[in-house]
Amino acid sequence: MKPEDSAPVERPLVELRDISLAFGEKEILKNVSLVAGRRERIVLLGQSGGGKSTILRLILGILPPTGGTVKFNGADVTRMRRRRLNKMRQKIGMVYQYSALISSLSVRDNLALPLEELTDKTRAEIDELVQMKLEMVGMADARDKMPSELSGGMRKRIGLARGIMMDPELILYDEPSAGLDPVISAVIDELIIELSEKIGATSIIVTHELESAFKIATRVAMLYKGEIIAEGTPEEIRSSEDPVVAQFISGSTQGPILETSK
Ligand SMILES: Nc1ncnc2c1ncn2[C@@H]1O[C@H](COP(=O)(O)OP(=O)(O)O)[C@@H](O)[C@H]1O
Ligand SMILES: [Mg+2]
Repeated sequence: MKPEDSAPVERPLVELRDISLAFGEKEILKNVSLVAGRRERIVLLGQSGGGKSTILRLILGILPPTGGTVKFNGADVTRMRRRRLNKMRQKIGMVYQYSALISSLSVRDNLALPLEELTDKTRAEIDELVQMKLEMVGMADARDKMPSELSGGMRKRIGLARGIMMDPELILYDEPSAGLDPVISAVIDELIIELSEKIGATSIIVTHELESAFKIATRVAMLYKGEIIAEGTPEEIRSSEDPVVAQFISGSTQGPILETSK
């Protein structure tokens, strides 16, 4: 028996196994397998329209796969009824490309919303949690502001704070630094790393921005034509000799990616 056989194995938080997904005739995902362990930060890289957001929807159980299994903490997401799905979703924080704040609500009320709807915490307890999360994203003074009074980068921070209000085990980020200038984007990248370490959450980050990807990731997976064609540490992906991976990373117009696209 090898020593690892007897060591306690931590169950992965998210497991996608042999996922296929088609919308009508259109095959979006083929045999996609992706496993996220506790505290990992997995960056899913891929072309626009490649199925990255779709993978996040599969994990949330918003969309059933055509084939394969999706598990969260060992439980089959595709078999969950509404009640269990909702319970699972409470453990998942979502951060969207556009912060998706409700414009008619103050920062405080935006952040309080999930706690008011899903917990029986008192107003004072909620206020305290709101303040704590605002401090974690460096926005302690923004409590009474309206979203329209904030810059894009500030709104993004509030979006991050909202994503962690329920102390999630998993945070899903969909293009978190899209549309931000490079400096603010770098600040957000650092915040993503910091939050994942502070709250011990697993993160899955979808992006097509390479610089962010390599900075944030503990592991990178690359989606191309519906398949995960490469997976590894940032260093492994960066030095990959696979022509598609190499082309994607160099941003070159020469290579298999353009040749094969329609
Ligand atoms: N509900 C849907 N019905 C039909 N096609 C869809 C649906 N959702 C996504 N698609 C298609 O699936 C492909 C992948 O979409 P998406 O996951 O949003 O890509 P990405 O996030 O990588 O840019 C796109 O071609 C998109 O048009
Ligand atoms: Mg998308």
